[in-house]
Amino acid sequence: MNYSTLQLDLNDIQGDLLTGMQKHAELFLFFKIADAARFKAVVREYVVGLLTHGGTVQERDRIVAARRRRGGSGSGEMPWLGMNLGFTKDGLTRLLGPTRPQMDPAFERGADDPETIAALNDPPPSKWLRSFLADRIDAVFLIAGPDKFFVTSHGNSLRGRLGSAIKTVYSEIGTVRPGRERGHEHFGFLDGISQPGIRGLAPVSRPSAAPEQGLPGQDLIWAGEFVLGYPGQNPRDPIKPGPIEPLPAPWAKNGSYMVFRRLEQRVPEFRAFVAAQAARLGIYSELLAARMVGRWKSGAPLELAPLRDNPALGADENRNNDFEFGDDPFQRKCPYAAHIRKVYPRDDTGNEAEVQRHRIIRASIPFGPEVAPGETTTRHSRGLMFVCYQTSIERQFEFIQRSYSSDPRFVGGKTRPGGGAVTPGFDPIIGQAPSGGPREMDEPYPNYPAGNRRTTLEMPHQFVVLTAAGYFFVPSITALRTALT
Ligand code: HEM
Repeated sequence: MNYSTLQLDLNDIQGDLLTGMQKHAELFLFFKIADAARFKAVVREYVVGLLTHGGTVQERDRIVAARRRRGGSGSGEMPWLGMNLGFTKDGLTRLLGPTRPQMDPAFERGADDPETIAALNDPPPSKWLRSFLADRIDAVFLIAGPDKFFVTSHGNSLRGRLGSAIKTVYSEIGTVRPGRERGHEHFGFLDGISQPGIRGLAPVSRPSAAPEQGLPGQDLIWAGEFVLGYPGQNPRDPIKPGPIEPLPAPWAKNGSYMVFRRLEQRVPEFRAFVAAQAARLGIYSELLAARMVGRWKSGAPLELAPLRDNPALGADENRNNDFEFGDDPFQRKCPYAAHIRKVYPRDDTGNEAEVQRHRIIRASIPFGPEVAPGETTTRHSRGLMFVCYQTSIERQFEFIQRSYSSDPRFVGGKTRPGGGAVTPGFDPIIGQAPSGGPREMDEPYPNYPAGNRRTTLEMPHQFVVLTAAGYFFVPSITALRTALT
């Protein structure tokens, strides 16, 4: 096969995963399939035609860009419905019967399985939202659009069309934060900056200087890491293609696995903790918070701005991702445990081909209200509707969560300037100790450019708490028209 001419079938791939859907508000509608025959008929005849695919998203982006060139406001005046559909293992069994093909092992286990919970140090389902567990979840609709009203009314008309074929188990709307916080998650940090560049899809910004990158610093990744039926990464070479993994069934081509996690963020507690610990360490709190994340609130990476924020750098997509960690061997600019250094260590392990096998595409959105005046302990549930896509949940999402963020020994093999091994500690944002126990992180105090003050951060509790989770298969448009219905 000639890989250089390999084309992604964007019109067959649901739109949230490679291209992203416009998302100022997003309704997550989790449901049980009550009448499989009726559900299949409505999906075939009505729903499939409404689903957003990669081609629709690209088309919209082209229209928005053209409007901007003509001096218009781009998407402002163009409400755009984005809709995707995914199934749990139970949902697929409902559609295809108990002899259906076996899919990804983690998908078949499920997010609420005791083995998954133990592997990830997740809180048990008895501590999740009760309403999420009220009944079996077979599937989820993601309905994205410009505001809450828009996604609610589209959700209602969809429910009306499906009638008694489905029973809603749980629904919740995520929204971008207001005003200047738009694009920032609830702790205040700009999100959605660094994503893998998909080969054949991401434009290469510097073809002669950096042909293996999309935007500067954005390594190109083979599409098979995120969509079934294409070559993935080569375990021995970060650039050459790896094999095309065998499909569990022909209809699985152009499908992907979606991980959903409702992550509650304890914002007042996070702020109070950061303020108290920064005072203890003798640094300002914005710097400590940045050292926990690896970026400043503006998005500027610590590797390029180690001591103070640089909003122009944070906003510049040609610079804000253009760095590695290898030239910061003593975590002076950015701690090893900082969220972004844990979840994507770049060149830190010395084996980039291997690191590139643990990438995900994120498509999350915040939920819940802003912190109210006087809210010093969390009174309103808020956080992140975390969504990511991959072709192996175990090797991608679960590996990042378990073997990077929640393993205090990762990244291994580092030493202190004068010698002696380093235990980097937990990712302070998403790392989880067994039974929600206390966590430690190494070197919250910056030793930039050449200090050697030893410090640790003791975190008695989580600031991010899992309150619901699910593993879904997001099939191709063709599969939804044919084999699955
Ligand atoms: C409430 C929970 C979370 C918060 C507040 C959070 C926050 C952030 C922020 C501020 C960034 C930097 C902006 C960017 O590069 O887009 C980021 C990046 C990232 N996060 Fe998270 N995150 C959360 C959960 C997770 C989870 C559960 C995972 C996966 C297990 C994850 C994986 C990543 C990855 C892969 C990146 C990009 C790193 C890079 O490419 O440099 N995050 N996150």
